[in-house]
Amino acid sequence: MALKRFENRVAFVTGAAHGIGRATVLRLAAEGAAIGAADVDAEGTAAVVAEITEAGGSAVALSCDITDTASVDAAVAATVGRFGRLDVLANVAGHNVGGLEGAEPAEEQWGRQYDFTFTGAVRCIRASLPHLMESRGAVVLVGSISGEVALGTAPYAAAKAAVANLVRNLASDHGPQGVRFNVVAPATVATDRFLGKEKLLDELKAIYPLGRVGQPEDVAAAIAFLASDDAAWITGITLPVEGGLTTGPGHLLNKIG
Ligand SMILES: NC(=O)c1ccc[n+]([C@@H]2O[C@H](COP(=O)([O-])OP(=O)(O)OC[C@H]3O[C@@H](n4cnc5c(N)ncnc54)[C@H](O)[C@@H]3O)[C@@H](O)[C@H]2O)c1
Repeated sequence: MALKRFENRVAFVTGAAHGIGRATVLRLAAEGAAIGAADVDAEGTAAVVAEITEAGGSAVALSCDITDTASVDAAVAATVGRFGRLDVLANVAGHNVGGLEGAEPAEEQWGRQYDFTFTGAVRCIRASLPHLMESRGAVVLVGSISGEVALGTAPYAAAKAAVANLVRNLASDHGPQGVRFNVVAPATVATDRFLGKEKLLDELKAIYPLGRVGQPEDVAAAIAFLASDDAAWITGITLPVEGGLTTGPGHLLNKIG
């Protein structure tokens, strides 16, 4: 039987036009959620909303930039205005400004990364929280396994680590009000950020005990789980979604020895 964990529920999802965000809105909609699909890419958002509505679901396309507070506030308000409530916030939008060696002044480069990754999540949470307190809803933020172990590009990794810490604290602060906060921490996922880098994706398979990189749907399934009542007693965690990457090098050593 197909899961229908989000019937009569409403989800606001950022980064909805592509990659993990797109897979997340399709997964939540397939399970019955009405979707506020938010992204800076209006065309991509319209396309995923059309796909949901053609399949008989409910979704609204929202132009939203998570680096702009007014834009986030308006998109969350539009979701609640359209569907009457909010049960799930999934903040998926993300990007990586690069490593320490950049020519850009550190405060600008690291500031942009932090503003996008950390403050962007805070903007989405602040706009959603009053509604989530009414519905006793759930927040799922997309972090990264690079926030847990060293995989390069320190500004991105450090900002993702801050997201995991934020969630632990907010889970504690708002647990008594019935709102849950969790993070999913993916490793390599084959999304548009790897367009033209198919050879690299193929080579990366070797470092994963499960023998492949992730697909957007792998992460969407984890987000849906943490957003659902199946995770009703789980809050404040960072769930690795990483094909066994951080188990250690045993699978590589086995090949050498
Ligand atoms: N792909 C990976 O290997 C990987 C690994 C670990 C973590 N992640 C994280 O997963 C999340 C999604 O990554 P992805 O690979 O699906 O990315 P993607 O580039 O495929 O999609 C990102 C989406 O975010 C949107 N976006 C960009 N800037 C925005 C803004 N300011 N406001 C709103 N939307 C904006 C883009 O238009 C796009 O639709 C990110 O948080 C990323 O850091 C990805």
